[in-house]
Amino acid sequence: MADRIYYPNSELAAKAHCGSMAQYKQMHEKSIKEPEKFWGEIAKEFYWETPVLDNKFFSYNFDITKGDIFINWMEGATTNISFNLLDKNVKNGGGDKIAFYWEGNDPDDYSRLTYRKLLEEVCRFANVLKSKGVSKGDRVAIYMPMILELPIAMLACTRIGAVHSIVFAGYSSDSLAERILDSKAKVLITTDGVWRGEKLLHLKSICDDALEKVKKHGHEVQSCIVVAHMRRLSNPQGPANCGAGKTNGVVKNGTQTNSNELNLSWDDDRDCWWHDEMEDAEPSCYPVWMAAEDPLFILYTSGSTGKPKGVLHTTAGYLIYAATTFKYVFDYHPGDVYWCTADIGWITGHTYVVYGPLANGATSVLFEGTPFFPANDRYWSVVDKYKVSQFYTAPTAIRSLMKFGDGLVKKHDLSSLKVLGSVGEPINSEAWLWFYNLVGHGVCSIADTFWQTETGGHVITPLPGATPMKPGSATFPFFGVLPELLDEDGHIVEGEGEGYLVFRQPWPGMMRTLYGNHQRFQTTYFDRFHGYYCTGDGAKRDADGYLWVTGRVDDMLNVSGHLMSTAEVESVLAEHLSVAEAAVVSKPHAVKGQCLYCFITPNEGVTFDKKLQDELKKKVRERIGPFAQPDVIQHAPGLPKTRSGKIMRRILRKIAVGDKNVGDTSTLADEGVVELLFQLRPQV
Ligand code: PRX
Repeated sequence: MADRIYYPNSELAAKAHCGSMAQYKQMHEKSIKEPEKFWGEIAKEFYWETPVLDNKFFSYNFDITKGDIFINWMEGATTNISFNLLDKNVKNGGGDKIAFYWEGNDPDDYSRLTYRKLLEEVCRFANVLKSKGVSKGDRVAIYMPMILELPIAMLACTRIGAVHSIVFAGYSSDSLAERILDSKAKVLITTDGVWRGEKLLHLKSICDDALEKVKKHGHEVQSCIVVAHMRRLSNPQGPANCGAGKTNGVVKNGTQTNSNELNLSWDDDRDCWWHDEMEDAEPSCYPVWMAAEDPLFILYTSGSTGKPKGVLHTTAGYLIYAATTFKYVFDYHPGDVYWCTADIGWITGHTYVVYGPLANGATSVLFEGTPFFPANDRYWSVVDKYKVSQFYTAPTAIRSLMKFGDGLVKKHDLSSLKVLGSVGEPINSEAWLWFYNLVGHGVCSIADTFWQTETGGHVITPLPGATPMKPGSATFPFFGVLPELLDEDGHIVEGEGEGYLVFRQPWPGMMRTLYGNHQRFQTTYFDRFHGYYCTGDGAKRDADGYLWVTGRVDDMLNVSGHLMSTAEVESVLAEHLSVAEAAVVSKPHAVKGQCLYCFITPNEGVTFDKKLQDELKKKVRERIGPFAQPDVIQHAPGLPKTRSGKIMRRILRKIAVGDKNVGDTSTLADEGVVELLFQLRPQV
């Protein structure tokens, strides 16, 4: 079943921005052979204060043996991102269009923001930042939940050329401090607190701790600007939701807390309330014109050495790439309502909650809550409420919702959906088919988008009106992207085969450096294979040329000389009707080199017994081959996941070998799960 090909529905294809494979191939070829021409035409749709020079459109070096790595797009041109996202759309008559529908953690809290109001708020806050001494090139740290002030703060930075560094508001104070220190941020923006499901997070007090730590290391953040988010939630008369109409402001049955009850500590010299500062701020602010390669933002991502890497994206290339991928991959059309569930604290939220949609004048949902609150059908009720047409989420979310059964999905009218997106990890065919058949009623295209913090936007992805889909395959490269598969020795794998996934040339939206550490940038991404950007992922190409990303190369394992990916085995295990989620790691084996150690989360009500273990072993044997039969199948009522939902395999590998020295677990959503897994470890 998984090998079946699913064709885009003809109605969608007829209206699509790219409506056939022939068109895709022609556009892709042009983007590779004549990048200046291809992107030059796209660039014309944006506003440039200083026009793009044709002869300087694109230059780069990907080969470290020939000198430093560099990537330049549209050198000499100047522009401003907030101007392109806001002023341009308002000038074109889109001022009254909704930019964001905000949906709070509690379904009773909601609000909306038009393009005109967003522009005004951005300008006001840009003026606030200026009053705090922020100017072009300064870094601004942001530690906020999914509220409207977050995109306002980001765009206000871009208005004046400041570089935002957003830290996901689920990170600890240590992690926040480490990132503030590395970027030497001048200002920090946060909220008093936030409800995530039924859990209250004291964001301001986490910031206080982080700023203490930063101070001890000799850096001082000059201002901490605090949105009174809790206060307005519990008090309808409290500070307005960025002046854009109030939240419903319902007092929560005594369960919710206001700012006063949070016992906020306050440093009068450093801390100030967002609403106080905004009160007198001017609603207009002339944009600072930025050079094409001026920094736009820093976003930290984890690195193998443990020290986070400050991925740096720049202005013009990121703008046109975010805009173009959004337009084609989600096939957005006027009137559509788009929803990406990712937190803005991750790259997916940067590019596909904020920059990509706004660059297209789109209307989006900005969701503060979780899929499980107040009930496990929250996603489907939000899709129904806003009549969402494009829904972009993660396989881990899909799998966790699958286990509640089909009834919760069927309860809601999801007929507005046209395109479904998946991101973050390989999507197993079981989850893909559930998403396709149940959520998408068998008529929506699924965009399984492969990309990374580093790539800035989608790099391998189907186009919904053009690409015949195979469940689990990210299919073909986006415009401007030229992937190759390389073997251990760096030789190109032609045709059907498997190898390291690399890219031959830059596309406009890729990272330019690691903030403050160009050397690390070069060694991490360009040293392994000279002349290529190395993703760190493995991939397969099938006989039809489809690319299947198999997971991080460090998650590859070799059993008796057979190279396989843990994701491949997980996908098979997850197909079993009793399995909610599976995670597979390698364990050293005296004879085979490595063997498979599988952690299984059964569906609710399923008994984890010998019969299930045998069935799973048999299934893997049958689907992949006898060499792939797992040696161990362990019961895992939960898996060690980061707050963004990524499984921490490093920890599972330790559990597999019985090594209690698991290292840092502070980024886990639930640290208790580790001890439980040690207890449940079978004696093998
Ligand atoms: O291993 C790949 C996996 O996520 C990694 C990038 O993670 P991050 O920088 O956090 O960005 C996540 C959101 C873009 C990749 O190296 N990955 C992401 N999307 C996919 C994927 N693996 C397979 N299929 C995908 N669609």
